[in-house]
Amino acid sequence: MAHLIPQTMGQQFGRRSWAEPWKIKMVEPIRLVSPAEREKAIADAGYNTFLLRSADVYIDLLTDSGTSAMSDRQWAGIMLGDEAYAGSRNFYHLEETVQTYYGYRYLVPTHQGRGAEHLLSKALIKPGHYVPGNMYFTTTRLHQELAGGTFVDVIIDEAHDPANQHPFKGNVDLDKLESLIKRVGAENIPYVSLAGTVNMAGGQPVSMANVRALHALCDRYGVRIYLDATRMIENAFFIQEGEEGYADKSIADILKEFCGYTDGAWMSAKKDHLVNIGGWLAVNDEDVFESARNMVVVYEGLHTYGGMAGRDMEALAIGITEAVQDDHIRARVGQVRYLGELLTDWEIPIVQPVGGHAVFLDAKRIYSHVPQDRFPAQTLAAELYLDSGIRAMERGIVSAGRDPETGDHRYPALELVRLTIPRRVYTQAHMDVVAEAVKAVYDARDETRGLKMVYEPKYLRFFQARFERIS
Ligand SMILES: Cc1ncc(COP(=O)(O)O)c(C=O)c1O
Repeated sequence: MAHLIPQTMGQQFGRRSWAEPWKIKMVEPIRLVSPAEREKAIADAGYNTFLLRSADVYIDLLTDSGTSAMSDRQWAGIMLGDEAYAGSRNFYHLEETVQTYYGYRYLVPTHQGRGAEHLLSKALIKPGHYVPGNMYFTTTRLHQELAGGTFVDVIIDEAHDPANQHPFKGNVDLDKLESLIKRVGAENIPYVSLAGTVNMAGGQPVSMANVRALHALCDRYGVRIYLDATRMIENAFFIQEGEEGYADKSIADILKEFCGYTDGAWMSAKKDHLVNIGGWLAVNDEDVFESARNMVVVYEGLHTYGGMAGRDMEALAIGITEAVQDDHIRARVGQVRYLGELLTDWEIPIVQPVGGHAVFLDAKRIYSHVPQDRFPAQTLAAELYLDSGIRAMERGIVSAGRDPETGDHRYPALELVRLTIPRRVYTQAHMDVVAEAVKAVYDARDETRGLKMVYEPKYLRFFQARFERIS
């Protein structure tokens, strides 16, 4: 007779609960500062959560970038750092690990993801080129533009609708891509910029069927595909869980198959790979490798460290082997989903389905009375901090920046606040505290008027812009 599964306190909805495949060996104390201190801290930060001091933050959900907890094995790896300027043994370990799990032939290390984006954009994009992609990412698009390219969004329409339940909202719309190829010519498209679990869409995955079809289309026109593999391991989890034929395949096998449809990838190792710093570019094409390996010595460091210390490369190589474990990724995405399910239960508007690395609050619906040029998502992130010391990040009109031609704000369909969950850092109790804080801010939504921007830097303005409250 089957046993009934009791409902746990953890509200995992009667499922047999998952638990983290690790136990805690070291802790870092955190503290909630007083409401008056929070009021001062956010005003001093110009209502921009990027400008807060972390000592004033209680639960830090600004980003999952470089914020992971490393394992005892990774810390042991730090002690194995070979800090030789050239030919560090940690580089060869990293190279072999990337080849094993991602399958690409050549590796160029970089200090973090944007270093790799810079090299790839410079190597392949010429002025006048078009770079199609499944939604923009801030640093990726900027490097493509600085190299002279124009980014063209070819993600499926469902991705722009936060309520749409499509299971693979990161998919490329092949018709949009093919019409672009026909309009501008394949020779003007250096590559398709494909991202796993699309960050700006809410951490939404790409299906294996879609990348397979994309590969066939690009092959027909002789267009290459480069992958933003930053959260591709999380993407593999969604394929394993939701795509027919993959339930019995390992995360590692799915990852390798997916990468096999692409010509290379860039990586911000600060996410999936469970390290605090690092990145790489990996490619199959010898010419692209030659070019990137030559440029890395100009912009990052020698081609056997690329801006990382030897110890960082060792921790990264070990992090990759931990990140592809099925148990790890299930608990990681499971924790994000746990928070998302609480908020869904309480009918708070969030991007659905819940993605891989974060829960995205739909500021457009939460503050439907605040016009987009009064920065509803920026406002919501500030209010959340004021309520409870929780730090989140704007992903809306501020992040979208200005159109380089017209100079006007870009008005994205998605106006979101990202509650980004660091890997192996917070517990389920922290998630409960976050959910309750979001509910409190949601319940007080009618009192909010929005913000005005009083300082705007030229590039990637969301990092440093300053705002004042509209009363
Ligand atoms: C999808 C994606 N691509 C690229 C990057 C850039 O990587 P990094 O922050 O390591 O420069 C990030 C990180 O913010 C990202 O989320």
